[in-house]
Amino acid sequence: MSPVRSTLGKRFFVETWGCQMNELDSQRMTGQLMQEGFLPTKEASEADVILLNSCSVREKAEHKVFSRLGEYRLLKMDKPDLVIGLCGCVAQQVGQAALDRIPELDFVLGPARTGELHEIIDRRRNGERVVATGFPKNRVFDIDTISRDGQYKGMVTIVEGCDKKCTFCIVPSTRGPEFSRSKDEILNEVRHLRDFGFKEIELLGQTVNHWKDPATGEDFAVLLDAVATIPGIERLRFITSYPRDFTAEMVRQFAMHQNICPYLHLPVQSGSDRVLKRMGRGYTIEVYKKLTAELRMARPGIALSTDIIVGFPGETATDFRKTLSLLEEIQFSSIYAFKYSPRPGTAALHLSDECDPSVADERLQTLFRLQEGIQRRINQSLVGTTHQLVVTGWGREPGTQIGRTPCHRVVHFPVKDQHVSLGDLTSVRIEHANTHSLMGSPA
Ligand code: 5AD
Repeated sequence: MSPVRSTLGKRFFVETWGCQMNELDSQRMTGQLMQEGFLPTKEASEADVILLNSCSVREKAEHKVFSRLGEYRLLKMDKPDLVIGLCGCVAQQVGQAALDRIPELDFVLGPARTGELHEIIDRRRNGERVVATGFPKNRVFDIDTISRDGQYKGMVTIVEGCDKKCTFCIVPSTRGPEFSRSKDEILNEVRHLRDFGFKEIELLGQTVNHWKDPATGEDFAVLLDAVATIPGIERLRFITSYPRDFTAEMVRQFAMHQNICPYLHLPVQSGSDRVLKRMGRGYTIEVYKKLTAELRMARPGIALSTDIIVGFPGETATDFRKTLSLLEEIQFSSIYAFKYSPRPGTAALHLSDECDPSVADERLQTLFRLQEGIQRRINQSLVGTTHQLVVTGWGREPGTQIGRTPCHRVVHFPVKDQHVSLGDLTSVRIEHANTHSLMGSPA
């Protein structure tokens, strides 16, 4: 007779905010819970375990965590055995204070301890309220505990943490010091994902191109070459690159390997050297522009996207105009722009000349308006061209699906005879352009 598992019929719910690293950490936690015998649910109210995988890169995201936990704690009134865990970057940041503030919270699990979830659930069963934070040397990157269900691309962490000292950024304190995985371990995981059927692989790191093999010192250009030459890797992406760490040899990989997608997310943060200096970014706009020009030479048609912070302390109208000029000059395929948000423990807190919030709001709107025009023009120029998509899911309109071009553009298209499976490739002709997406028909 097989033993009856205590998790029989029990369900879990994971809510994820933030970056791709958090998404992958959620896949890692999902896998561990499934190995324990829990089943997933899309309804928090049905769950026996709720995990909130949080982001603290801006203040708003951090506030949302506590209002969300306030909703989840109410569920405990009807279900006293419900287990609620705070995970991710806010967990690392607040630690024990979260347990003190919310009596219904069962544990706090920082991002570097994600692989220990199953142990923490066990300890919870024994009545302990665990705080698992900090950055252990022997982090667990067990590929067998990652649940890839419902994913169209296979994500692989290659480097964790960050040693940069950008004055606005909380990440070094929430994700800890930089730590690269070995080349062999990474290649092994990529092959495993290929065998699993993934057409698209995405390498992850807060500063992905700063990866170095811990034993040999080989750099990210070597790794890109090694991954791109694995037979059967149809598409390779990586995120997020740090401009200062992008070498000529890395640029050359774009020319050498057509399966490296012609898309690069390259956060610039500001178009003004003065602001970049106050941000501690360690490059100038001239260097950034030179790099983008080299990338475009190596791979004509490459799409570039970026991150911008507006209203950084001391940002003048002239500085901001330089950011607008940069957008006009580079013609990014998309941007992620944010109002500066002061974060605990960061050096920018001590900078003078705070920007008036209403001025920052206005600048953000101006930036978005300019970018919308740029994107509309770029997208319009794609009408009539044909692209191969990786299918990422179903559209909101019945009978439609969504995919991404190699340049990472979103395309909606109608199902022809039979739908295309998640993660598979299909070709479409672009029929119509919107600002943030394209409409295509099967080619
Ligand atoms: N305020 C606003 N935006 C921030 N980012 C990081 N820290 C802050 C902050 N304190 C933005 C940067 C980064 C992106 C992930 O989030 O643009 O590239």
